Amino acid sequence: MARSWLFVPGDSERKLAKSENCGADVLILDLEDSVTPEHKAAARGLVRDFLAAHAARRRSQLWVRVNSAGSADCAADLAAVVAARPDGIVQPKTRSAADVTWLGTQLDGLERRHGLQQAAIRILPIATETPAALFAMGGYAQCGARLAGLTWGAEDLSVAIGATANQEADGTWTAPFQFARSLCLFGAAAAGVAAIDTLHIDFRDGAGLIASCAAARRDGFSGKLAIHPEQVSVINECFLPSAAELAQAQRIVALFAANPGAAALSLDGRMVDIPHLRQAEHILARAADQGLKRA
Ligand code: COA
Ligand code: MG
Repeated sequence: MARSWLFVPGDSERKLAKSENCGADVLILDLEDSVTPEHKAAARGLVRDFLAAHAARRRSQLWVRVNSAGSADCAADLAAVVAARPDGIVQPKTRSAADVTWLGTQLDGLERRHGLQQAAIRILPIATETPAALFAMGGYAQCGARLAGLTWGAEDLSVAIGATANQEADGTWTAPFQFARSLCLFGAAAAGVAAIDTLHIDFRDGAGLIASCAAARRDGFSGKLAIHPEQVSVINECFLPSAAELAQAQRIVALFAANPGAAALSLDGRMVDIPHLRQAEHILARAADQGLKRA
């Protein structure tokens, strides 16, 4: 399960080089908002070359953020990068599952044309960047196997609704953005995929990043977008289960194993029942998956 997803502006050779050893689970090579229209053509070439130069991936998966569905830029982005086999595509300004399906169809054709394995390239939509998209967050289950997760964005949404700020003075999200964040969680769970939290924009604020990671993991997100290499190790650390959580999960699983047929038991004076067992199993499975990834 990927925890850290670092955006790297696709037109910056310096940042592309810098990203190679930063330890991110995923690098998102960006062709959208961090690249000006005049630089997009050059960025496509740099991103394609970067993918080709890292064909044997080691530490980081390599994803590309293309431009929004149906735009001429999106078609040019896909034409430039798919042959170099990115692990996935981040789709900005996704309006509904139909945009993901549209992208999947484009990928079907390009994978076929380039002799690539069908449906190997996954999709992560940024699903809250337009106001109407919030009303379609329950529909992503129909996207099929390409859908890797859902993430959300606050900056474009702020502009769209005319908000002058999206965070309180203490860094917590204002009500409209808490709503978008929650919809991302519910929409991802309804579709059976991972929820990835949006980025912490104040990239020098380490304490704020830790707090937002802790809140995200508590609520069910399994990773977080990043914009600066220094955010990566914090995110990787925060989205691992703590030793105390692992120990507690092991105790719950052991308790149920020792009491076959029981659906509700007592542990330290509190009730534990089937949802707690499922949650404990989920924590252990995720830890095992992350252990394998590190090996
Ligand atoms: N990926 C790779 N390298 C990055 C990076 C990123 N996202 N952000 C910064 N770096 C590099 C810098 O190039 C610099 O390396 P150098 O010393 O070799 O030049 C080093 O990390 C330290 O950077 P720093 O000086 O602290 O930041 P900055 O002022 O250069 O850049 C930002 C700040 C916000 C412009 C930059 O972090 C960035 O471009 N982030 C991504 C933006 C983006 O993709 N937005 C779209 C998604 S919302
Ligand atoms: Mg944007």
